[in-house]
Amino acid sequence: MITVFGATGTTGAPLVDTLLAKGADIRAVTSDPAKLTTLKAKGCEAVAANFTDIAALENACAGADKIYLVTPAHLDMRQWKANAITAAKAAGVEHVVLATGLGASPKAGLIFGKWHSETQELLKESGLDWTFIQPTYFMQNLLWQAEHIAKDGVYYDDLGGPVAWIDARDIADVAAEALTGFGHAGKGYGLTGPEALTGEEVAAVLSDVTGRSITAAPLSADDAKAAMMAGGMQDEVAAAMVELASIAPKGYLAGIETTVEDVLGRPARRLRDFVTDNRDAFVE
Ligand SMILES: NC(=O)c1ccc[n+]([C@@H]2O[C@H](COP(=O)([O-])OP(=O)(O)OC[C@H]3O[C@@H](n4cnc5c(N)ncnc54)[C@H](OP(=O)(O)O)[C@@H]3O)[C@@H](O)[C@H]2O)c1
Repeated sequence: MITVFGATGTTGAPLVDTLLAKGADIRAVTSDPAKLTTLKAKGCEAVAANFTDIAALENACAGADKIYLVTPAHLDMRQWKANAITAAKAAGVEHVVLATGLGASPKAGLIFGKWHSETQELLKESGLDWTFIQPTYFMQNLLWQAEHIAKDGVYYDDLGGPVAWIDARDIADVAAEALTGFGHAGKGYGLTGPEALTGEEVAAVLSDVTGRSITAAPLSADDAKAAMMAGGMQDEVAAAMVELASIAPKGYLAGIETTVEDVLGRPARRLRDFVTDNRDAFVE
């Protein structure tokens, strides 16, 4: 049995689908009981558990030998993951596949790298087997501004430099392999897409695929932070996002990892693949 936390989320939802396609026995977890029916309709077990409730988390892990642990980017995410690790250990889970972020390490200089590193170290100390899933920017983040892109023909670029975007479906596929294959314990999988694209190149892909003229417009750090907070992100988390974006102009988000292809034996999806598969979101 594999318990998938964050099962309705950006990486968790495609992970559930991939694991079910592989024939795995899955329990999907949501914090929202209203989503249980939809999850069960996929053909898996589903339970409700909040990351604040250790007893419910333990119940979600009961009988599972492996779990996928992801939380949203949230000020409490370290505590939430610590709660889930405590619950997993108490329930007899053997292996935790933990979603963190590229660059997470005890030497990290950025806030997100430090926060994710804290959880990685906690999991190592737990004595459970671990695999770290460490992605760069999700292509799915573009959906946050899909309406603007569709309506105004403008892609607001808060990065200002090349980024090796990754498709969350590839993150899910690597996590699925880590959860069902052999030899993944004790590995940190840094994950990027196959190419680093500037804002202008992102806009060019959007234009090409939608058949409309979409231009890139720079978005200042202050405006990016305000937009994220307007979307419900906490102040400190939005500040961490802006800090991460600030290293893009120096080229620090442009490095390419070959991990997707190394683990899956097929190339990582390109931005063009993502936009093609989500074309409807980017047109009116
Ligand atoms: N976006 C990026 O570019 C990026 C890049 C690198 C790393 N990351 C990291 O990736 C992680 C986010 O991954 P993701 O996008 O797959 O997650 P997500 O979609 O933001 O969230 C996963 C799920 O967590 C559930 N959830 C929310 N609050 C909960 C609570 N209190 N208790 C239990 N479940 C709760 C929600 O589902 P329900 O409503 O069904 O409960 C949500 O769908 C973060 O740690 C972030 O730092 C993101």
